[in-house]
Amino acid sequence: MIIDPEVAQIPESTAIGISIGGLLGAWLLYNAIWRSPIGKAPTLATLLSIGIVIAGGALYFTFFSGRAAYIHVGVLIGTLMTGNVWFVILPSQRELIAATREGREQDPAIGYQAKQRSVHNNYFTFPLLFIMLSGHFPSTFSHPKGWLILAVLSAGSAGIRYFMNIRFSEPRWLWPAFGTFAATAAVVVVMLGDRNILSAGAGRASPVPFTEVAEIMHRRCTPCHSETPTDATYKIAPNGVAFDTPEQIVSKADAIKERAITLKNMPLANVTGMTTEERETLRAWIDQGAKGP
Ligand code: HEC
Repeated sequence: MIIDPEVAQIPESTAIGISIGGLLGAWLLYNAIWRSPIGKAPTLATLLSIGIVIAGGALYFTFFSGRAAYIHVGVLIGTLMTGNVWFVILPSQRELIAATREGREQDPAIGYQAKQRSVHNNYFTFPLLFIMLSGHFPSTFSHPKGWLILAVLSAGSAGIRYFMNIRFSEPRWLWPAFGTFAATAAVVVVMLGDRNILSAGAGRASPVPFTEVAEIMHRRCTPCHSETPTDATYKIAPNGVAFDTPEQIVSKADAIKERAITLKNMPLANVTGMTTEERETLRAWIDQGAKGP
């Protein structure tokens, strides 16, 4: 499910390597930045850390399906959060207890670092929560600019976090913080509405002949959706839906639009390698009235 041949045709071992290597590399880099002298300049270190998450996202979006890329960004953030607790925050607390027991002062640098990492985890929470739920919103991860939607939503949800953090201490920043969130939400709504324009091959005006539609359906769908499937797993037409004849295809036009164009969760895991152009051809045919031969 990580691999989408339309995004990148990579072997499974490469996908697994990118998955694990990316997580490990991100933590090592992030931790090194905050432990090095750069960590003394929090603005620079913060920008670099955001850069690591974005670079991770770019890596995943280059090689993985949109769904897998979203989940990986989530796992990357989760890895940083867990690393923070495990390697910085908990040791700091242990040191505080030990220092108190021995009747000496805790090294302030250790406590300061733990505080920094707690703040990071605080801001990571909401973007992570959204990613955990994102599997239910194919319109976000399957959007041609899915990475941008994720970035905007993350900024907006960190804005909500800020809003919650300062609501008692700095009320004058309340409205600007809320405004940030509202603005990002508006951007996402506009982008989601705009995906006809954004996807490749969209807006085809010339009439789509049915033969072209049938050819696409037979190449990408009937390996499973047929009275005689050729797929290795599906030996009978899934849910009894077959696309062998023109009548079967025409009568299911709405369902085809829903699954193959709007949600893009058919073909299943895109095993038959359907392209964006093919989806847009089907969309144009349906928008033109889904006429048979
Ligand atoms: C690898 C096999 C496979 C391929 C290829 C495939 N599908 Fe499916 N399809 C399934 C399975 C399994 C289900 C039932 C589970 C589900 O609904 O997700 C299904 C369900 C559906 C449904 C819902 C049927 C209903 O009424 O309940 C539609 C519509 C659909 N597919 C359309 C398509 C289209 C269009 C294509 C080609 C662009 C396609 N599928 C390619 C396996 C496949």
